[in-house]
Amino acid sequence: ISLKPFNTFGIDVKAKKFVTISSVAELQAVLKTFKNEKKLILGGGSNMLLTKDIESLVIHLDIKGTAVLEEDASHVLVKAYAGENWHEFVLWCIAHDFGGVENLSLIPGKVGAVPIQNIGAYGVEIKDVLISCEAINIETGNIKSFSNNDCNFSYRESVFKQDLKNKYVVISVTLKLTKNKHNIKIGYGAIASQLETNGITTPGIKDVSEAVISIRQSKLPDPKDIGNSGSFFKNPIISISKYQALLNNFPTMPNYPVSNEGVKVPAGWLIEHAGFKGKTMGNYGVHKNQALVLVNYGGAKGEDIFNLAKLIQLTVKRLFDIEIEMEVNVLN
Ligand code: EPU
Repeated sequence: ISLKPFNTFGIDVKAKKFVTISSVAELQAVLKTFKNEKKLILGGGSNMLLTKDIESLVIHLDIKGTAVLEEDASHVLVKAYAGENWHEFVLWCIAHDFGGVENLSLIPGKVGAVPIQNIGAYGVEIKDVLISCEAINIETGNIKSFSNNDCNFSYRESVFKQDLKNKYVVISVTLKLTKNKHNIKIGYGAIASQLETNGITTPGIKDVSEAVISIRQSKLPDPKDIGNSGSFFKNPIISISKYQALLNNFPTMPNYPVSNEGVKVPAGWLIEHAGFKGKTMGNYGVHKNQALVLVNYGGAKGEDIFNLAKLIQLTVKRLFDIEIEMEVNVLN
């Protein structure tokens, strides 16, 4: 079958063997039956670039469910299964007045992917609210619970992208959210000015969510209209001394401090100043409003987008002596 509907980049490659899974027991049975086969786990397909037909068994995770596990006067523990759409889950939290994920509104993909790359936006990362997640060992079919600490989270990273890569399938996450007295975070980026534009003086979680949605819609292409996987690269972290040296030649280069030794430089700025913003190569290119996002205008080949990504990396390296790492998982 064609995997086009199953990846947000909209790349049209084929899978020889494809199975959709809707329960944990079903997943365990499939893992057992196909024990010796190579497998590719597919959630929302929102952080991958497919470059050729897939020979492995594609397991499409569609396990649904959301439940309140525990609550007290000020907090709730909410569990959500991997196949839930992330943004719909965020809206469900907001409708129940559960706070903590509103800044993560409108991120494409499904719940299962959330801990893998420690999704983050507008000053919040999933690690700030995640208590634990459950994952199945692909080899044995056993379920293991990972504490926040076990996940070894850092910027766009977790143990599931490192030591345990391709070894576990995340099946659920458990988040600790606020019930009242929400800890509103509007210090990052354009949220405060967007709230002002919206005429909000004392924002609640719904207002923050709506502000984030407006900002994202103004900068980021909707995968329903234009294929993409969000930020294609991570923002690189460089030493303060290197940053200061670069300022001599590039006085407007922005930064976010991350530690006493390092600063994060927006990869979008580097790519824009390398001349790639809005560049179109036929049916693919670099988005015109956010240079960090590579786009498929329809019918593009994953290989072409991958080659463009490599060219961007080389050019940025040559101009700024900075290496930018791909954030998207390239399957080639
Ligand atoms: N910038 C440019 N040109 C561009 C894009 C950005 O000059 O084309 C510069 C501007 O100076 C701008 C700054 O970069 O002020 C920051 O841009 P933005 O606020 O859009 O954030 P970002 O650092 O480019 C990160 C995340 C996004 C997340 C936003 C908001 C990464 C790799 N990306 O982007 O995450 O939504 O912050 O928090 O960290 C994603 O991971 O898919 C994603 C979209």
